[in-house]
Amino acid sequence: MKNIKKKEKLMMQSFVQYTPTKVVFGKDTQKEAGKLVSELGITKVFLVYGGGSVIRSGLLDEIKKSLDEEHISYEELGGVKPNPRLSFARKGVEKAIAFGAELILAVGGGSAIDTAKGIAIGAANPDTDIWEFWKNKKELKKALPVGTVLTISAAGSEMSNSAVLTDEETQDKSGIGSDLIRPKFAIMNPKLTYTLPKYQLTCGIVDIFMHTIERYFTPVHGNELTDEIAEGLMRTLIRNAAKAYENQEDYDAMSEIMWCGSISHNGITGLGRPKDFLCHKLGHQLGAKFDEAHGATLSAVWGSWARYVYHLDEARFANYGRKVWNIDEENDEKTAVAAIEKTEEFFRSLHMPTCLGDMKMGVQPDEVLKEMAGKATAGDTMKVGAFQKMGAKELYEIYK
Ligand code: NZQ
Ligand code: ZN
Repeated sequence: MKNIKKKEKLMMQSFVQYTPTKVVFGKDTQKEAGKLVSELGITKVFLVYGGGSVIRSGLLDEIKKSLDEEHISYEELGGVKPNPRLSFARKGVEKAIAFGAELILAVGGGSAIDTAKGIAIGAANPDTDIWEFWKNKKELKKALPVGTVLTISAAGSEMSNSAVLTDEETQDKSGIGSDLIRPKFAIMNPKLTYTLPKYQLTCGIVDIFMHTIERYFTPVHGNELTDEIAEGLMRTLIRNAAKAYENQEDYDAMSEIMWCGSISHNGITGLGRPKDFLCHKLGHQLGAKFDEAHGATLSAVWGSWARYVYHLDEARFANYGRKVWNIDEENDEKTAVAAIEKTEEFFRSLHMPTCLGDMKMGVQPDEVLKEMAGKATAGDTMKVGAFQKMGAKELYEIYK
């Protein structure tokens, strides 16, 4: 890729920013769940949660108590798995329709929230299988409202317009994007994240970092404020990641990380330019095929992607190195390389993988890498990414 020069565009692009989610942040905010539902004039709630952490912590009981106090009736569906499954969301759709749910309330992380979003879509469109919307065979025109009580800082789904599900039969992990599924409210109490397993804490930190950096490296320059917000977010995250890793009950550090998570993915760090998200495409294949945790799949591929493309815009990588990593070096190429190394060091400081061989899936044979590269590009029929659009061959080389 050396010596290929990109044409720079230095204009801020037109954009629409829509963040309708009411954020209720701080200690004990989970107690306000019932009130927030009531304010929406809703009386029947379908609760969705994961494999049991919210039962063990007592959070689910607190939410139910809060709903009881407002005379809101509810039904529940627990058991969402990480890398949430399409079949499970379909089951939820049936139950939510039978109950007559008016709002889907997720209690948990990205997996519970994305399942709730899937259920919200299905329950509002009972005659259509939800995957039709995911695969753009049907246009999404309505969805039930979604509320969230967040227990892990990571996916940013509590404010995002997207939901990611995996069709386990075809190992197809795909996302849908629509403002209709942006949650109505997000309850965020950093204390709820104290019980996270260390690996989930660090996977989450990487995911937040990646949501920001995958909007930072794009073909469009300019838009200074968006850059400054992204750079400030990354610096804040790096600083507080070390503190949280040391002491997971550091309320201030866990608060900063939680808020970084929402801001990293509600759109504001990428205004006025297309997002890249090529590493997310690569990572989703690893999640679908090997059930690896989302954040780990991203740190495992980013360095490889960055080394593949940095020559296209060394000045941009150098700017990242100077602003985010404080690298004091005048030569752009040297700064770019140092910035990539710093980023990988950051991942390693959190014990996160920086290559496929660092994960439980291990090094894979060429045919598996080619198969995943093919799936990520719909059989090499489309290019992915924005900083540099790529087809199956390039994705294979990055995996390799
Ligand atoms: O299932 P439980 O028992 O709740 O345990 C979960 C799960 O095992 C555990 N956990 C969560 N909060 C906890 C806790 N354990 C103890 N204490 C707590 N407070 O952590 C594990 C991971 O949970 P999960 O919800 O899967 O994590 P995350 O928030 O990282 O979500 C990952 C999913 O979100 C998707 C990913 O692809 C992945 O499928 N994403 C969704 C996005 C969106 N909708 O906007 C964007 C992202 O880029 C991402 O793709
Ligand atoms: Zn992500």
